[in-house]
Amino acid sequence: MNTRYETLAKRAAAFGQEHVLRFYDSLSDDSKRRLLDQIEAIDFPAFAALADGAKRNAAVAGRIAPIEAIDATAYDAREKERLTEKGWELLRQGKVAAFVVAGGQGSRLGHEGPKGTFRIGLPSGKSLFQLQAERLLNLSGRAGRTIPWYVMTSADNDAETSRFFQSSGYFGYAPDDIRMVKQQSLPAIDEAGRMLLAARDEIGFAPSGNGDAFASLKRSGALADMKRRGIEWVFYYNVDNALIRIADPLFVGAAAHYGNPIATKAAYKTHPEEKVGVLCLKDGRPAVLEYSEVPERLLYEKDAAGRLVYGLGNLSIHLFRLDFIERHAERDIAYHAAHKKIKTVDGRGEPFTPDAPNGCKLETFIFDYFPLAERMTVLSFRREEEFAPVKNKEGEDSPRTACRLVLDLHRKWLAEAGAGPQPPDGRDIEISPLVSYAGEGLTPDVVKSLLERVPSCDGEGESG
Ligand code: UTP
Repeated sequence: MNTRYETLAKRAAAFGQEHVLRFYDSLSDDSKRRLLDQIEAIDFPAFAALADGAKRNAAVAGRIAPIEAIDATAYDAREKERLTEKGWELLRQGKVAAFVVAGGQGSRLGHEGPKGTFRIGLPSGKSLFQLQAERLLNLSGRAGRTIPWYVMTSADNDAETSRFFQSSGYFGYAPDDIRMVKQQSLPAIDEAGRMLLAARDEIGFAPSGNGDAFASLKRSGALADMKRRGIEWVFYYNVDNALIRIADPLFVGAAAHYGNPIATKAAYKTHPEEKVGVLCLKDGRPAVLEYSEVPERLLYEKDAAGRLVYGLGNLSIHLFRLDFIERHAERDIAYHAAHKKIKTVDGRGEPFTPDAPNGCKLETFIFDYFPLAERMTVLSFRREEEFAPVKNKEGEDSPRTACRLVLDLHRKWLAEAGAGPQPPDGRDIEISPLVSYAGEGLTPDVVKSLLERVPSCDGEGESG
């Protein structure tokens, strides 16, 4: 035991990580063993190289230019119909899969449990996962074929996510058509590059970013499963967008029509300083500039029509051609240091929850795959119909704003269906995705039955 301790202590020390053993002497035998097991499993040289790369990667320069986008809201009725039908054809043929990245820790939201289990405060009390499942079920029913659903989890939330799906009866999905894909985790570090302890006897690990998505599909066998099913397009999205139009037939059809390996749904930023990454060309290749990376002189630049030249916000709604994922699943992409509040221990080994960022998680980002495609289809959509992010506990991009956006959209659908001014009696009417995916099917009878229902949005996020 001692020899093992000494060997591992030496190994950690060689990489400036000896402090991970600083509470060792005070631990029980079991805890000692657990901690040594953890240290033994760490590939210190690889981790050091990766952390080093993340630091250097902070600001990679490049020639920035605007990227061309197609305004999907300006399609005429015939074109829209043609592309949508193309999408339906692919859905009917079973060539489209949904892939949600849900491995993040959601630290800003602060919900105990996987973010997908969070209920944003809709009258129905539905969780994010349930909203997504029902949209998929709606399309699957109409396509006559189930859209397989892949869910990326992490060590942090995999078991709980699986339990949630199980206890929800997979929302009516056949369990075989839902597959959890667990991503990898890496030690979190402080600003000096030292691994943070989650407890006296535990190194703190954090999921390695949504850029692990392709590698996780490959490692878990999910990629092979997609191939076996004949999937051609993978619809990728964030777990925390309450308005996500999963596998949107128009988007699928347009992506297939233009034929590039990647297609993305974008929407114009609401204001130049909005904290959202922007789509652009970097050294002639498709790329995303994080909001902090956009040079000031570009941030406010406008075109002749008065539109922000670098205003195409990345909404994390993408379609990847399966052959693109296959080709690049094992490719190394850059790690970034994401500065966050990370729970750790204080000098006495007691739990410590910081109120400001105290370290970083090492993460890869899915958009770092974009430059690997020579061309990418960028389609701009109406933001208020597509994007209701749930990031923060309060204020902007919170459960309250997301809930409002969902109910405002439903109100608009009802008005378009001829329901008259909304809401009657100040009530908000929620429309189940099983009834309508994007405002279709709201016949007078359906509208009447919806108007007869009761409660309103409480605006409060609930745990669920
Ligand atoms: P965010 O960057 O918003 O991170 O993730 P987060 O972890 O959810 O939240 P904060 O920053 O801690 O508050 C965008 C999307 O990428 C997924 C998230 O689950 C979310 O859908 N993600 C993020 C992963 O799947 N894995 C990761 O390692 C990180």
